[in-house]
Amino acid sequence: MNHTDTVTKSQQYIDQEDRYGAHNYHPLPAVLSKGEGVYVWDVDGKKYFDFLSAYSAVNQGHCHPKIIAALTSQAQELTLTSRAFYNDQLGPYEEYITSVFDYDKVLPMNTGVEAVETAMKLCRKWAYQVKGVPEGQAKLIFAKGNFHGRTLSVISASMDPVARNDYGPYLPGIEMIPYNDVEALKVALQDKNVAGFIVEPIQGEAGVFVPDDHYLSDAAKLCQEYNVLFIADEVQTGIARTGKLLATCGNCSCDARCENKPEVKADILILGKALSGGVLPVSAVLANDNIMMTMKPGEHGSTFGGNPLACAVAIAALKVIEDEGLQANAFKLGNIFRSRMQDIVDKSDLVLLVRGKGLLNAIVINDAEDSSTAWDICMKLRDNGLLAKPTHGNIIRFAPPLVMTEVQLHECCDIIEKTILDFASQMS
Ligand SMILES: Cc1ncc(COP(=O)(O)O)c(C=O)c1O
Repeated sequence: MNHTDTVTKSQQYIDQEDRYGAHNYHPLPAVLSKGEGVYVWDVDGKKYFDFLSAYSAVNQGHCHPKIIAALTSQAQELTLTSRAFYNDQLGPYEEYITSVFDYDKVLPMNTGVEAVETAMKLCRKWAYQVKGVPEGQAKLIFAKGNFHGRTLSVISASMDPVARNDYGPYLPGIEMIPYNDVEALKVALQDKNVAGFIVEPIQGEAGVFVPDDHYLSDAAKLCQEYNVLFIADEVQTGIARTGKLLATCGNCSCDARCENKPEVKADILILGKALSGGVLPVSAVLANDNIMMTMKPGEHGSTFGGNPLACAVAIAALKVIEDEGLQANAFKLGNIFRSRMQDIVDKSDLVLLVRGKGLLNAIVINDAEDSSTAWDICMKLRDNGLLAKPTHGNIIRFAPPLVMTEVQLHECCDIIEKTILDFASQMS
């Protein structure tokens, strides 16, 4: 295939999406058709390191053989029953996931945002039935700069004009406070109608903002003091991404299964993305009985939530994390990655800083937020065989699959370093 054919093939798919698909995304122009482990290939056969992992959904690597085996074998038995009937996969999955994360109960959903919505509803239900908040008065506190998904109720808690504008009116009963600000939380908690505080342990979409060391534990303690639920949205940070089973685990020494001594134990835990290793939309809300049992039959649900296919896949996906020690690998490689990126910061004025935890990291490019520099660098990274994408203008998020080896990581760091130094020298 000559160069012209190559360009044409990718371009045809791009043009097709542009012509027939809604324009609600602005993808980097790489048209992918195959994935395996840390690699993806485009329709022209070019191989890349995936350094985004579908926004941390593919922690276990693309098409992990054990997850795909669970998918294909279950797909030949039974895929969907709805919750009108029982199935032989849901119970084992529920028992397994609640033991991994140490909660009494799980409520299965599909996408991350649905799990966030579920947590919001569950929290309100608890507020009326247990806390005694007067009907219709419950409030939920969110942190500014958050990203919890795209439904109307969830964007009601967003401050991002791109996500919000022209979608009003918004859901009432939402209060916003600055992220990483315990004092602001304390002020907000003075309102007796506050039911819950919903927070990302690291704000991923906002640009991988890691809060101060004691922020989460102090916030959780305050919530407990004021009888308010502490709700952790670990859709992006959870399932080994940040070097521990959960980002809220802090420095706990447990491996891949909670032994009930995390730094912060959320009252409600929200999971998604890597719960299926990127194979299917599988999300979950976990809580103990005093909260979860406030919901009664018929009060919440989803046709696909808890379907047998999703359950078989999720068990396999969680087992891969445990069997392969992916949280320990993410912890180790994350330290190497940040140290390699720090070398670039030291060498080049083009990169201001690196931040992150485990293998959820970002570099901040030394240019205006509305500049195209980060995008242009990502285009060069693509040309050099590594896929990453800017988040919020001048920030590039780096989140490779956690199955990466140390040798592969160094190869990727070499690509990033060379790309950035070449880019900088062409600018000057
Ligand atoms: C922290 C967080 N919560 C919720 C979501 C929404 O997940 P989904 O896109 O599966 O609805 C995301 C997606 O990026 C996320 O990062």
